[in-house]
Amino acid sequence: MKAIVRHTYGSPDVLKLEEVDMPAPTDDEVLVKVYAVSINGSDREGLIGKPLYARLGGLRKPGYPILGSDIAGRVEKVGRTISQFQPGDEVFGEIPGYHGGFAEYACASEKTLAQKPASLTFEEAAAIPQAGVLALHGIREKGQVQPGQKVLINGAGGSAGTFAVQLAKLYGAEVTGVDNTGKLDFMRSLGADHVIDYTREDFTKTGKQYDLILDLIAHRSVFAYKRALKPNGTYFFVGGSVATLFQILFLGPWIKRTTGRNVRILMVPQNSKDLIAITELCEAGKVIPVIDRRYPFNEIPEALRYVSEGHAKGKVVITVA
Ligand SMILES: NC(=O)c1ccc[n+]([C@@H]2O[C@H](COP(=O)([O-])OP(=O)(O)OC[C@H]3O[C@@H](n4cnc5c(N)ncnc54)[C@H](OP(=O)(O)O)[C@@H]3O)[C@@H](O)[C@H]2O)c1
Repeated sequence: MKAIVRHTYGSPDVLKLEEVDMPAPTDDEVLVKVYAVSINGSDREGLIGKPLYARLGGLRKPGYPILGSDIAGRVEKVGRTISQFQPGDEVFGEIPGYHGGFAEYACASEKTLAQKPASLTFEEAAAIPQAGVLALHGIREKGQVQPGQKVLINGAGGSAGTFAVQLAKLYGAEVTGVDNTGKLDFMRSLGADHVIDYTREDFTKTGKQYDLILDLIAHRSVFAYKRALKPNGTYFFVGGSVATLFQILFLGPWIKRTTGRNVRILMVPQNSKDLIAITELCEAGKVIPVIDRRYPFNEIPEALRYVSEGHAKGKVVITVA
């Protein structure tokens, strides 16, 4: 099969179109013919190997050659113990470990796939999994946003941020979106009540405080985040620098004890239950999977360049077949 492969960490230039062996599903896996795959922040991190957690598979060179986690396609073959799916089913979901999707075929676990609703195109379905589930957890499942609360989303114009702004508005919050200059109007169009340009203003130094901060791109000190939280407010680190991650791990419990503010890591398990929940909101038209651009399969390097240069508003989707 054809795949977009890399053998070193680096810019989109290290990505090459190659012929590789087709993956074989294990007993509890499904082999999917990929029709569409979307790009997430985890792909852009996995490509360059930064932050450090993006090198978990291989410190000096990538542990896996094919990036891409969110797929939609048709089941080609199922493992021995698979009961939910059969060849021919239209499915979508995340690939465990976040790799293998930039290819004509990919294996995924039954636990992270769902039947694709007929009302969604393959591209729309591929745009939902990782970003939608992250946002659902941050805003509804763990964030438990209530009407009238002040919610700030850092990285609001990207993949998960786009879903998070819409969800926070859906549940009645007053939403502040933070992203680059080119995405301010876009965040407003999603429903953000206030927008902050991260290239001009640091949201932790405005004197404003929030009930919930969902941080998709954390790089500040834990004390800066504490300052931007109301008493009893919650800050969630979703992705960002490893230095910030460790500060939160070690100092978060102490901040909670001494100030009541909750500064913690949000770990979101890949699973089909949450995928179905966010997809139902999309089918009902309450949340829209916003696709900025579509690229053909052989232009995945261009697509990643577009995302890495800070242009993408919402999701970028690759049409594979
Ligand atoms: N915790 C978990 O369980 C879990 C699971 C999966 C993934 N993740 C993580 O989730 C994170 C977010 O993913 P995503 O897919 O939403 O990323 P994304 O699509 O790359 O979006 C990130 C957004 O943040 C913006 N941004 C960059 N620097 C910023 C700054 N200093 N301040 C504010 N905004 C900034 C980016 O704009 P520019 O275009 O200007 O860069 C982009 O719009 C990733 O780090 C990923 O590893 C976490």
